Amino acid sequence: MSMLVDAFGRQHRDLRVSLTDRCNLRCTYCMPHDFSEWIPGDHLLTADELLTVISVAAEHGITGVRLTGGEPLLRPDVVDIVSRIAALPSPPRIALTTNGLRLPAMAQALREAGLERVNISLDTLDPVRFKRLTYRDRHADVLAGIAAAQEAGLLPVKVNAVLMRGINDDEAVPMLRHAIAEGWSLRFIEQMPLDAQGAWDRAAMVTADDIFALLSAEFDLVALPTRGSAPAEEFVVDGGPATVGIIASVSKPFCAACDRLRLTADGQVRNCLFAQDETDVRAVLRDPSLDQAAVRTQVAERLGLSVRAKLPGHGINDPGFLQPARPMSAIGG
Ligand code: 5AD
Ligand code: SF4
Repeated sequence: MSMLVDAFGRQHRDLRVSLTDRCNLRCTYCMPHDFSEWIPGDHLLTADELLTVISVAAEHGITGVRLTGGEPLLRPDVVDIVSRIAALPSPPRIALTTNGLRLPAMAQALREAGLERVNISLDTLDPVRFKRLTYRDRHADVLAGIAAAQEAGLLPVKVNAVLMRGINDDEAVPMLRHAIAEGWSLRFIEQMPLDAQGAWDRAAMVTADDIFALLSAEFDLVALPTRGSAPAEEFVVDGGPATVGIIASVSKPFCAACDRLRLTADGQVRNCLFAQDETDVRAVLRDPSLDQAAVRTQVAERLGLSVRAKLPGHGINDPGFLQPARPMSAIGG
């Protein structure tokens, strides 16, 4: 158990697993529309390799797995991966972060395979704006995906929105109103310096305080106490039962309570979204001189190494901050 406790006493319970860096959208804050630096296909971990890492992690105290991307539903074997995680002895809870496009076709099968919850990304209610922000004319598919997730019982469906100044920050209020009407659990996320093109600009970031002010003009927000390791600060809206989350990753970092560890689609363990270093487990998984027991031992050791090297915080607000070399789509959200 103690293997995944870091130097600051943080016990790691949440493993974020990126299934692919490919995506069927091109959100401007994530990757340029002509992005081409994809992970080579033979570097992507197979389902067997993913299950080895996830089951070792579960033996060492990981109690939740979140599948991410890129767009995780582009993995043809994603339903199989979910059912194999759910079949582990004392299985972790399984969640998924998706852009929603494939949920109309897949939500029911994912639910039956053992998926519990989904987070769906949506930054605008306007189809024209959606196309400008993602380079794809797929707004209706996301809305259908959210509805499909609700119908499949993947509840509550969380919807993540990133607000950008002068681009969609006029939608804070209408989005919350729409979310309440539709039964979505809406969370606003501060834009982080994770885009492939390195264009993040602190001055353009809509901060958590800005979001609170925008929403407070229309709604009565009362903060819910204690958020534990959850990044969102939750507010009850107009006396409830609706709530809204604000994730202040940059302006009010929640690193001190972080329990997250990440596995990239090409088998690198990261102890933070913003880490400069990765710990290779793909080489261990593919080392022909190791039997399965030795692979598991070495994977466990490397997970421990990564956790013990974790820094106290992401350092975005330090003068010497360096953006990670890989974009969000390659790291996993
Ligand atoms: N800053 C904040 N959120 C981001 N996401 C992707 N890139 C960024 C960024 N630079 C969001 C997506 C999705 C989740 C995986 O992270 O919108 O909701
Ligand atoms: Fe795709 Fe998510 Fe990046 Fe948008 S933010 S391009 S949906 S990986």
